[in-house]
Amino acid sequence: MARKTFIAGNWKMNTTIEDAVALAKGVVEAVGSQDAVDVAICPPYVSLAAVKDVVKDSNVKLGAQDVHWEKMGAFTGKVCCGMLKSVGVTYVIIGHSEQRTYFHETDSTVNKKIQAALKAGLLPIVCIGETLDERKSGKMEAVVETQTRGAFEGISREDALKCTIAYEPVWAIGTGETATPEQANEAHVFVRKILADLYDEESAQSMRIQYGGSMKPGNAKELLSQSDVDGGLIGGAALKPELFEGIVNPK
Ligand code: 13P
Repeated sequence: MARKTFIAGNWKMNTTIEDAVALAKGVVEAVGSQDAVDVAICPPYVSLAAVKDVVKDSNVKLGAQDVHWEKMGAFTGKVCCGMLKSVGVTYVIIGHSEQRTYFHETDSTVNKKIQAALKAGLLPIVCIGETLDERKSGKMEAVVETQTRGAFEGISREDALKCTIAYEPVWAIGTGETATPEQANEAHVFVRKILADLYDEESAQSMRIQYGGSMKPGNAKELLSQSDVDGGLIGGAALKPELFEGIVNPK
């Protein structure tokens, strides 16, 4: 089954509301009318409402960078799925390595967030990926397998099909060091095998797996031409419309 390429920009903790609106306008101008590729941008929470107004009549969808699994209540600092729905969010990034590294995200909290997001009608972008030490010591497959199985525990096939996976090797994030197209594809093929084991081959073949980690216009074409690389989750290069456009339409 053909998988439509999906490019998402993760703006991380960058942009004021003013910056975010300007950046979103640039993205809409650059890629908002094409529909060959699915495109989403994920600004910080405080800019979601303003950016929604900018993207609303375009093909650019809105995403959030995280969500809490509880429905509401005394969870100071957290944002729930209902809030994201009410502001017009379609996608939500869950389990980013920065969340895992700095904010105590575990496979179990990732799973709870995915369950809550799906229940609320949000589409999860589930991040997995190994550190440099793990790769060097030959543990890439074990780590990625544990993260994938943990993320999808108890999630039905029908719900899993609504998810995108982002394979982001931690050593390639923000470092300028990209996984080679072969390394990325090898990991994606491996993840798809796990999905086939969890669900079935047809489901595994239809789920999209993005690559993330120093993706930019200069390496996007080769990465995206790999058999199992179905898109990208873009950090640094998502902060400049012309670079983001160069990934959506790679030359
Ligand atoms: P960079 O593209 O800056 O390496 O970030 C990747 C990433 O973490 C996207 O979520």
